[in-house]
Amino acid sequence: MIATRLHPDKQSAAQAIAREIAELIELRSKSGKSTVLGLATGSTPLPLYAELIRLHREEKRSFRSVITFNLDEYEGLGPTHPQSYRRFMEEHLFRHLDIPAANIHIPDGLSKQTERNCADYEASIRAAGGIDLQVLGIGRTGHIGFNEPPSAADSRTRRVQLDEVTRRDNSVFFGDVTEVPHGALTMGVGTILEARRIELLAFGEAKADIIRRAIQEAPSPGCPATWLQRHAACTFHLDAAAAKSL
Ligand code: GLP
Repeated sequence: MIATRLHPDKQSAAQAIAREIAELIELRSKSGKSTVLGLATGSTPLPLYAELIRLHREEKRSFRSVITFNLDEYEGLGPTHPQSYRRFMEEHLFRHLDIPAANIHIPDGLSKQTERNCADYEASIRAAGGIDLQVLGIGRTGHIGFNEPPSAADSRTRRVQLDEVTRRDNSVFFGDVTEVPHGALTMGVGTILEARRIELLAFGEAKADIIRRAIQEAPSPGCPATWLQRHAACTFHLDAAAAKSL
């Protein structure tokens, strides 16, 4: 079952989720436990990351006990590439917080041993105790992470081919579609479904149709976000525009 929560705007959604994350970290660190966060890229989580940074700077919240796993990375892009997700996360979140560098994990887009690398990524998530809270966006193809259709419910971290719709959508960051890689490494749907809590964010009218499909269509590989219906604690945080077809 997917719960939906309507927010007046993306800032309000960001504040609510940031508060939830901060409370989770506080609660767990009181008993000496780390908090494992699954993190997403794209424009959607940016207000959330800005709010986490504000909580750190103004409310002196510490993120030292946090371990992070990002969902995905473009194949062939290294940490210094301006469009790599590693660089994105450094700029928009990590360099502003006090998460120890060793606690940060992002699939290695330059790895030549893709299968081994992906298996190691899964093993690191398990070794950290699994993901406590996964932040998700959604692509217009129904992808979560870079799990393009078709993606099975039990898919694991692997190399995927990007859908042309996704390459076109993401070309705004690259300048030109020819610059967008054709492949990516992504956590699988099965990996995502193992997170104990999932918070998906979607704002704006362009997401309305895929939000309706994700919630109302029967779960199938053709719309990977529909698999979230099988999760016991998944909330979609929407503004009115993204919720308008529900
Ligand atoms: C990207 C990412 C996804 C993200 C999606 C939506 O391709 N791999 O994790 O959710 O596209 O992006 P945006 O938030 O910019 O709409």
